[in-house]
Amino acid sequence: MTNPSNTTATGAASAGATGAGATTALRSSILPTYGRYDLTLVRGDGSRVWDDTGKCYLDCVAGIAVIGLGHCNPVVRAAAEAQLGKLWHVSNLYWTEPMLELARKLSDRFGGSGAQAFFCNSGAESIEAALKYARKATGKPGFVALEGSFHGRTFGALSVTGQPAKRAAFEPGVPGASFVPLNDTDALGQAVGPDTGCILLEPIQGEGGVNPVTQEFMEAAREIATARGALLILDEIQTGTGRTGSFFAWEQLGVRPDALTLAKGLANGLPIGALLVANDALRGFEPGDHASTFGGNPVAAAAACAVLDLIDDALLAHVSAVGERLSTGLRAIPQVSEVRGRGLLLAAEIDRPGNDAVIACMQRGLLLGTAGPTALRITPPLTLTADDADEAVRLLAEALA
Ligand SMILES: Cc1ncc(COP(=O)(O)O)c(C=O)c1O
Repeated sequence: MTNPSNTTATGAASAGATGAGATTALRSSILPTYGRYDLTLVRGDGSRVWDDTGKCYLDCVAGIAVIGLGHCNPVVRAAAEAQLGKLWHVSNLYWTEPMLELARKLSDRFGGSGAQAFFCNSGAESIEAALKYARKATGKPGFVALEGSFHGRTFGALSVTGQPAKRAAFEPGVPGASFVPLNDTDALGQAVGPDTGCILLEPIQGEGGVNPVTQEFMEAAREIATARGALLILDEIQTGTGRTGSFFAWEQLGVRPDALTLAKGLANGLPIGALLVANDALRGFEPGDHASTFGGNPVAAAAACAVLDLIDDALLAHVSAVGERLSTGLRAIPQVSEVRGRGLLLAAEIDRPGNDAVIACMQRGLLLGTAGPTALRITPPLTLTADDADEAVRLLAEALA
């Protein structure tokens, strides 16, 4: 089976896990855009999930880098439940307190004062907002992105995704996108011209294989964008909200973007996305330029406020430490040839199809993702303990032995 999803579920039908539950007969009622594993999950707590037969799994997928603070985190849950009892939705014709509070917290994290947010419901939607913002603010239609990148599946986001196979069946896309190889500074310099509205980068390409952008490339991107009047926009949908050991991945590269996108871990599993524009970036949107009925939803925003409060320096230090422990353990497995990534966004290159290992691990009670044909993607909750990390390494080693 080819992998129709953007992530992990290649070969799902042969997973041979449990999935014998009462819902199996209903599966044909879902459009087959994903190759799902034969596994129905019914409950989660911290770093563990349970299937419909009661079997427990150590979850090193975490909803694909979403459940940063663990399943059913009690503090985030309490914030969402409190908001559920107050106000669910009123539209963006009015102000709501959780949305304003979240924008303030994100602006504080971004540094400087007065960064501005646009809220939506997913990563792809935040990319759409970023692309429109870049065109409006600069008056230039072009987007320069990276080969191997992943920015989402809506037309705009897909059009700037540097994986031709994902675009092929849906061409023509949104015009104006061009692609340069990862970390090729010369190619970037040549691609960014007078019509370029933005350079769009993931600090670490996630879905594309956990491939980090180098410091040198990031600095060059900043210089080129500034010199040519383009915006530098970072897609931090996967790398943001603490996943790499700093709140934003750019903090470790020392290059502040003009704007960035967030989603995934921002509300620990409730749907939310955000475009965050720096206080000193070119101004773009005016009333009527962009919208989302559910954007800034009070319940998702209240949950996200709790997430931001919980991602403190201690947790970020923990992410770096446990990420190091996990990387060291993975490197010691004989069938692992390379470990890439930072913090708890890791990939392990192995000696066989990644999906075979994912299925073998699932049978042993460990959930992992894939990141390319022979790579495993490991994105556990940021709260993963040292014991959990050791258990994951042990189970993977057993599965590969
Ligand atoms: C870096 C990056 N950008 C964008 C997206 C798209 O996000 P969503 O699936 O929420 O639309 C993803 C999802 O995997 C991602 O990893």
